Amino acid sequence: MASPHAARVLVASNRGPVSYTLRDDGELTSKRGGGGLVSGLSAIEGNAESLWVCAALGDGDRAAVRRGVAEDGVRMLDIDPEVHADAYNGIANSVLWFVHHMLYQTPLEPVFDAEFRRRWDAFRTYNRAFADALAAEAAEGAAVLVQDYHLCLVPGILRELRPDLRIAHFSHTPWAPPEYFRLLPDDIGAELLRGILGADRAGFLTQRWADAFTACCTAVLGGTGDTASTGGTTIAVHGLGADADFLRKRSHEPDVDERMAALRERIGGGTGEGPDGRRKTIVRVDRTELSKNIVRGLLAYRELLDTRPEWRGRVVHMAFAYPSRQDLAVYRDYMAEVERVADEINSRYATADWTPVALYLKDDFARSLGAYRLADVALVNPIRDGMNLVAKEVPVVTDHGCALVLSREAGAYEELGRDAITVNPYDVSATAAALHEALTLPDGERAERSERLAAAATALPPQRWFLDQLNALDPAAATG
Ligand code: G6P
Repeated sequence: MASPHAARVLVASNRGPVSYTLRDDGELTSKRGGGGLVSGLSAIEGNAESLWVCAALGDGDRAAVRRGVAEDGVRMLDIDPEVHADAYNGIANSVLWFVHHMLYQTPLEPVFDAEFRRRWDAFRTYNRAFADALAAEAAEGAAVLVQDYHLCLVPGILRELRPDLRIAHFSHTPWAPPEYFRLLPDDIGAELLRGILGADRAGFLTQRWADAFTACCTAVLGGTGDTASTGGTTIAVHGLGADADFLRKRSHEPDVDERMAALRERIGGGTGEGPDGRRKTIVRVDRTELSKNIVRGLLAYRELLDTRPEWRGRVVHMAFAYPSRQDLAVYRDYMAEVERVADEINSRYATADWTPVALYLKDDFARSLGAYRLADVALVNPIRDGMNLVAKEVPVVTDHGCALVLSREAGAYEELGRDAITVNPYDVSATAAALHEALTLPDGERAERSERLAAAATALPPQRWFLDQLNALDPAAATG
């Protein structure tokens, strides 16, 4: 039954646009998040009929729900913490993320046993909680935009509860090819695909991921031809670009200038090759996910210093590796490995006035923007990535043009590959060679490529990405 607040446009995602922290004195403080979805939704800001349904993620969020503290247009679900942990860490982060990014070390994992089945049940419960909330809040015929692998069962459940709704699902990750997807138990793979096929539209960031999804439907669900295997669901591609207006403005605020001064200090003089007589810099900025390939990036930099001694003392690799999903041991171990390899390079090569790697582990958006402005080379070498917005943001923000070393396995490759120096992310020697090529690009060419990269990167701003999806689902809601 529709609620009295009946929303016409609903967004559902695990992580919402706001989070709460419980202070020692019992007060709650709130913080707005960023990212493509938040910017995208601003296209319909002020639309009183929109609602974002998300999960309470920590004690602060749960306290906010229980105290009835809520932001307008946001509904947080207080799902049982154990159910949420099993669904989010046990399935979404440890299984679905691993499958789509192909991260398993297959001789020993994955293991789909009784414990996995228990977690999968929790995953169902968690998806059902979202579907129930959406069903209760949506007006007759409303548009519902469900986000990502966490909520892949929601469209199917919601379709049963509310056949009148127009439902879209969007995957922000890559999609696994069928041979890899079929690591999942057959019934689970089928349930997952059928969950998404409950939507009118299934959206992906690139054609490659959309094709992989269709191929999985054919392999797992059978049928002859694409239409038979994906039923009545439209498979759509909506690339997400950088938010140029926001980035250009934000990257010139005083806090960014302050951070830049500190970064320049850290980079130091050298032989006066780079702009302002400083050393050259290779910058990377990532959430420290296993798929980001930070360790091989460091190994490539080490090989550059090993095999081309002329770079010693003349370049600094600034790696911003911000913590992510630290509840999982495998993520903590990976972060430790990043630190170990960075230390190893520094102890091998550092001199009295040059430390080759600068590793930053504390998230600081203003400092990331400062590094984008200074970078001579941006290294974006993920094993696999749905899109990778860093690759798109750097060319927009750069002060003097930045060369981009880009993995061919990132979604952004489809749009940026032509003007980037592209690499196979597993090939450390080729990545070292690409870094050398990027560092030696003539100034003019670097600036020209950077301009073309910026144009390609901003072709689809988040607001347009969001409105295109809404329009395709329900034109009336997009304008109303
Ligand atoms: C990355 C992915 C998204 C995903 C998000 C979840 O940004 O590109 O597909 O939704 O991570 O991150 P979280 O920190 O909420 O686990």
